[in-house]
Amino acid sequence: MRLVALSGSLRARSSNGAVLRSALAFFDGPATTADIAALPHFNPDLDGEGATPPEPVAALRATVAAADALLVVSPEYAHGIPGALKNALDWLVSSGECVDKPVAVITASPFPTGGDHANAQLREVLRMMTGQVVMDACREIPAIGPKIDPTTERVTDEATLNDLRTALHALTTAAAATGPAPTAEATTTA
Ligand SMILES: Cc1cc2nc3c(=O)[nH]c(=O)nc-3n(C[C@H](O)[C@H](O)[C@H](O)COP(=O)(O)O)c2cc1C
Repeated sequence: MRLVALSGSLRARSSNGAVLRSALAFFDGPATTADIAALPHFNPDLDGEGATPPEPVAALRATVAAADALLVVSPEYAHGIPGALKNALDWLVSSGECVDKPVAVITASPFPTGGDHANAQLREVLRMMTGQVVMDACREIPAIGPKIDPTTERVTDEATLNDLRTALHALTTAAAATGPAPTAEATTTA
């Protein structure tokens, strides 16, 4: 089973990046974190029938297509989805790599109640893209600051680690039930 992760934060010392790395430690298989920082702004003129996508877009699509499950870990900006992450998702709408793909959404915030808006919006967008949002694998993590070791940049809070472990288990269980992503060969010959 292959997993692809998207981080909604481009920050070098991102708390969501720390959550993502800590979550992936509970995944027993190949995992890739897709690079969304290099993507151009989504433009439907570059996304038409037969258009050759910009190279970073093609790379993102190939990475997501090859994965059996998708993990999205993100902060919330102004009660919404960070623009860089929404941009990445927009590039995946028409090409369909998220269709039927089991998806987990995890948001982490420094605030006691933060992240719920972005979490709900991400689930809505991914459902619209006909991804299979696995609710048992979705988490909102409040007050993330002291739950991370600043040296290792990993989650150290036991309750949060336990939560991430059960979330990853729910995601991989859903992915196992859905079956593997089609191979590139099957996709091109279909
Ligand atoms: C422009 C901006 C807007 C933000 N808006 C929110 C918000 O609406 N809700 C929230 O929980 N945190 C908000 N934050 C705080 C972020 O959650 C915080 O900076 C967090 O550390 C970002 O995630 P990261 O550490 O993964 O980069 C905002 C931060 C910035 C820079």
